[in-house]
Amino acid sequence: MKSLSPAARPGFHLLRWFYLLGWLLSGLTPVIAAEPPPLIAPAVSTGTGLLLEPPLDLSWFSREDFEAVCATVGAHRIHKSWTNPITSLPPHARSGVHGLTEPEVVGYMRQVKRLFDDGQSVPISDVGLISTQEDVNRRPMFNHIAAFSNATVRVFLLVQRTSREKDWGYFSIVQDLTLDPPLDYFAEIQEARIKFEGISCYKCHSSGPLAIHPVRADLLSDPPLAAALSQFIADQPRSRMHFPDHEHPPDYGAPMALRFCSRCHKENGDRGPLFQVQAHPIRILVDFGYMPPNRALKPEEIAELKAWLDSKK
Ligand code: HEC
Ligand code: HEC
Repeated sequence: MKSLSPAARPGFHLLRWFYLLGWLLSGLTPVIAAEPPPLIAPAVSTGTGLLLEPPLDLSWFSREDFEAVCATVGAHRIHKSWTNPITSLPPHARSGVHGLTEPEVVGYMRQVKRLFDDGQSVPISDVGLISTQEDVNRRPMFNHIAAFSNATVRVFLLVQRTSREKDWGYFSIVQDLTLDPPLDYFAEIQEARIKFEGISCYKCHSSGPLAIHPVRADLLSDPPLAAALSQFIADQPRSRMHFPDHEHPPDYGAPMALRFCSRCHKENGDRGPLFQVQAHPIRILVDFGYMPPNRALKPEEIAELKAWLDSKK
């Protein structure tokens, strides 16, 4: 759709009115598509042999179990009715910003946690595919995800726990849109401080926020909201990751050069280059048929990818 010139796009004039209306109502830049995006396809292993562990059997885990665990975060915080999947933030206090300061980033992370806690955000709740499958947890991992924005930032909040833990952890991504390309700050929001991290998040979030992938269709609170939020994430501008001062990003080695992935995943591509350190999300997104988007890999391509994943670099 991006490659079509606007005039060539069917229904353009009508769309423009929808955009304008949405914009006037929300005060947001017109990023919300007028037509609802298609629902996220359910996760089904395609049996590529790329997974290191067999697909996890979650049949013992019911929708009721899901609802019960989700609600422990506070029932008033989730299942919100919505028209816009992105919660608007007030304009940035300082004008003419070129690069946010760390206290400003911290301020945004505290602000979105407060909005979530006060029931003023629109979170989707799911059991996530990527964090549940393989050897990361091998038990349901619950996520509440909410997005926020103003003209200066996009902010994401993840409130997360496994089926075994009692407490919810809070994580956030702040995208500084005043820089080109935007800069993504990653952190855990703790009671006493914001703990910035880069290396530990990079292995899954190499290109910034991740599209939503529920492990099962019924372990998801609101499919249209998940689709809208996921679309918002996929449409983000290419950004780069901020590594905090105390971290020295390791040498990730050579980027993957398999054409069927790297035509999109490369320096200056739609998404960042892929490295061996991303083996986990690569195995899962390919095996469950999400990558590459819109087609299945041929057996010889799967073999090439497997050889690359298994090679020691
Ligand atoms: C094992 C892979 C993995 C690692 C490591 C990881 N994440 Fe994520 N994260 C995910 C997945 C998968 C999602 C989307 C989950 C879903 O489908 O519900 C996500 C979602 C998020 C979101 C919500 C916005 C979005 O991207 O969808 C935030 C915020 C977030 N993560 C922050 C962090 C931070 C901060 C770190 C490092 C401290 C981190 N994550 C490390 C896998 C990971
Ligand atoms: C047509 C372009 C395209 C191709 C080809 C493609 N990808 Fe992607 N990939 C994307 C887009 C867009 C996203 C983000 C949206 C999403 O996750 O659906 C993404 C997301 C990912 C992610 C999550 C991390 C991130 O960048 O957000 C991984 C891992 C990934 N792709 C792996 C692969 C692998 C492995 C291949 C080759 C087998 C591949 N992709 C082929 C476009 C592509």
